[in-house]
Amino acid sequence: MRRVVASLLLGAVLAFPLRSAAQDLQPSPERQRVLIHLLRQDCGSCHGLHLKGGLGPALTRSALAGRSAQELTRTILEGRPGTAMPAWRTFLEPAEARWLAQLLLDGNALTSKP
Ligand code: HEC
Repeated sequence: MRRVVASLLLGAVLAFPLRSAAQDLQPSPERQRVLIHLLRQDCGSCHGLHLKGGLGPALTRSALAGRSAQELTRTILEGRPGTAMPAWRTFLEPAEARWLAQLLLDGNALTSKP
């Protein structure tokens, strides 16, 4: 019995920081709607209405296959100097850019509800 209580306590202690870290990375539902709107309107103006490419390259799941979320997050935040890709760090928190990068990698950018 004692061991059960101890392992429950340990489980709670271990789970707590993990859960709060995950919540920090997840924008609020309202903010997610704003981000998806931004992706379709602003990013879409260069990357195409269906993100299949335009002035900027395609951002579909297949086009981004094998790319890391970290690299895409950096491109979104810093832009690509010398190209039309602007830096978004004044508009987006790092965790928000990361969330968008993951949305693109998962291929959910067009199917998620705005
Ligand atoms: C004014 C045009 C423009 C806008 C707006 C724009 N991009 Fe880009 N983006 C580009 C161009 C051009 C490139 C390719 C840069 C290069 O040649 O390296 C690019 C590259 C990228 C890449 C890297 C793709 C790859 O295959 O490496 C990502 C990811 C990306 N953009 C995401 C976004 C997101 C997310 C937004 C909106 C928040 C956005 N872009 C808005 C023009 C734009």
